[in-house]
Amino acid sequence: MNALGIDIGGSALKGAPVDTKTGRLLAERHRIATPANLTPTQMARALRQIVEHFDWSGPIGVGFPGVVQGPLIRTSANLHPRFIGCDAGKLFSRVAGCPVALTNDAAAAALAEMRFGAGRGFAGKTLLLTLGTGVGSALAYQGVVMPAELGHLPWKGGRSAEKHVAASVREKKDLSWAKWGGRLTKYLAVLETMFWPELIIIGGGISAKHAKFFPHLRTRAKLVPAQFFNEAGIVGAALHGAAQR
Ligand code: BGC
Repeated sequence: MNALGIDIGGSALKGAPVDTKTGRLLAERHRIATPANLTPTQMARALRQIVEHFDWSGPIGVGFPGVVQGPLIRTSANLHPRFIGCDAGKLFSRVAGCPVALTNDAAAAALAEMRFGAGRGFAGKTLLLTLGTGVGSALAYQGVVMPAELGHLPWKGGRSAEKHVAASVREKKDLSWAKWGGRLTKYLAVLETMFWPELIIIGGGISAKHAKFFPHLRTRAKLVPAQFFNEAGIVGAALHGAAQR
């Protein structure tokens, strides 16, 4: 089955129709930059532009950067606060004119990587992190993906760990790869103590530059970049959308 996958991020939303049997994009992805902090209603309109761009009618899956419970959004650390408590499943479905199923953006990326990418065929404990505006996380075991919020682990001074280790922090603070790698290594060590993953998959836009920072990371688990790089979120959202039918 084909489904439209849409990945809502801190600076843009991106979408493409996906063949959910193979994980392949059926058309070049469409990206809409969101420099302003969009409200849920404005986001729904932007989402409709993607639907119209592909002249889409059919199942839609959306990955959102916050805690998602059913159709409800519970947290919105890096997007508009009005998303908190919003029934985005209902709002997006109404505005898009097609059924929309929501999931967490990192859980979507993990679905794609475990089904078709870096975790394909691996049944052991896996930790996937997406490094972008924030830090997204999901765990997988025996092929089952579990969304997590490890980016909000209290870190130095009690602030969320993502405020120290996200890719956006490296850029903003102009940290060297070595310095950022050192921060990530400390963070990963704590996560390894808690979960003992056998495989760690690093996703997000920055994963395309893994050759620059992987040499600075030390982990017990095998460490690999996401195979879909930044497209895992789109593919996984589509998988989620198709599964909800
Ligand atoms: C959110 C997560 C999300 C991550 C990456 C965090 O701030 O709480 O839900 O997966 O950012 O977008």
